Amino acid sequence: MLIYSESAYRQLGRNLIIPGGTRTIDATGKLVMPGGIDPHTHFELEMMGAKTADDFYKGTRAAVAGGTTTVIDFVLPEKGQSLIEAYNNWREKADGKVCCDYGLHVGVTWWSPSVRKDMEKLVSEEYGVNSFKMFMAYKDAWMLNDYDLYCAIEACAELRALPQVHAENGHIIARNTEKLLAAGVTGPEGHEKSRDEEVEGEAVNRACVIANQADSPLYIVHMMSKSAVRALQQARSRQRPPLYGETLAATVGTDGTHYRNACFRHAAAHVLSPPLRPDPSTPQAIVEALADDHLQLIGSDNCTFHEKDKELGKGNFAKIPNGVNGVEDRMAILWQKGVNTGVMDPCRFVAVTSSTAAKIFNVWPAKGRVDVNSDADLVVWDPRQERTISAATHHHAVDFNIFEGQHVVGGPQYVIVGGRVCLDDGQLRVAEGHGKFLKTPTNSPYVYGGGEEVDAPAPKPLHVEIQPRVTNGTPTPEAL
Ligand code: URP
Ligand code: ZN
Ligand code: ZN
Ligand code: ZN
Repeated sequence: MLIYSESAYRQLGRNLIIPGGTRTIDATGKLVMPGGIDPHTHFELEMMGAKTADDFYKGTRAAVAGGTTTVIDFVLPEKGQSLIEAYNNWREKADGKVCCDYGLHVGVTWWSPSVRKDMEKLVSEEYGVNSFKMFMAYKDAWMLNDYDLYCAIEACAELRALPQVHAENGHIIARNTEKLLAAGVTGPEGHEKSRDEEVEGEAVNRACVIANQADSPLYIVHMMSKSAVRALQQARSRQRPPLYGETLAATVGTDGTHYRNACFRHAAAHVLSPPLRPDPSTPQAIVEALADDHLQLIGSDNCTFHEKDKELGKGNFAKIPNGVNGVEDRMAILWQKGVNTGVMDPCRFVAVTSSTAAKIFNVWPAKGRVDVNSDADLVVWDPRQERTISAATHHHAVDFNIFEGQHVVGGPQYVIVGGRVCLDDGQLRVAEGHGKFLKTPTNSPYVYGGGEEVDAPAPKPLHVEIQPRVTNGTPTPEAL
């Protein structure tokens, strides 16, 4: 039995005396777990000439509907823009709109001494940032060269913040894109062709080597392939500072065969970077990697674009705005693919969807734990709840759902956000602006030592068979 309220009065135990006026929720036969933490969202982001459909209201509303009670979004400054200015813009976009608590990572999208100074300010108590994302791809936008990446990772380690990396080789992608377009491959199928598994695996390895040279921990965002998992696993076995790998609901719940769909809208809707993989064994391998601690967390990278925006890339796949949905369905998809299949137990499910993120981003045990002094962010999860995912019924603003038609068993019946029942026996009752900005202090003991290990099962060998590449990067009509 658990008694929670917005005030400090909370109890956990058996046969508690229930204060008068307390509402009782019967969770018999259900699981009570900490609210999900999605460590990777993009709400109200402008990129590739478009703006995401989900803003901080619609996005966090969808999050709560799916059992997520905290999101961490990315401030992405323009090249040359002050990081502080970009951070302030993000706070303006989000504060007053969010239905649940949110934190911010900040992108280091260019490098200079002034960026270093901004990072120093951002990790102060005033700003509350403890993680910075660097890009090895998006060559003409956010990409850093290896020298700047090394400097940025070093700066993170000096500030006891966590460097995060988007690991893909941006130069190879740029050249492959030129070659594919010249060969007449202009549709969404060209997206994965221009950046296959090897292109991701190489960058994961390079990022780990750079982090090791800087004697820094590292967090690799959105790991999408078996090659990436293998590269991370090899680095984890040889490096001392912790290395963390995040995968996505999209990776577990769908695959890259959709890029060949004859309907442009359908194929383009699945375009994100790194891409979904056409190798049909990928989703299962990624679930196993999550279960066996070869990957540590699952996010959504929710970055939704309407059909009209995806059409910017008609005739040139490189112009399709990158991003998919996932913040609402992340937990149900992983429950379906991981727990219902017996690959993952419910405790590991809680670790990869919530508590590990709380530890790494240093908000444990306020978040990611059901306890008397933790925030009352709770989910009553019904393992028998059935639902068919559809854009017609989801809570996103976007007009497409990459999990359309998938039947999932298991989902949230009640979601309590900071003591407020926001999903009430299936009825969504969020309040715009109810969420708060969550400061994330630096020097997480789970990243820089002094804390227990993040929850992890006993290590098991990695079972990842990587198919040999079928092309050498030179597009030929037969290879496409
Ligand atoms: O395709 C993606 N992932 N869009 C969002 C930007 C990023 O790289 O995370
Ligand atoms: Zn990225
Ligand atoms: Zn399809
Ligand atoms: Zn992202």
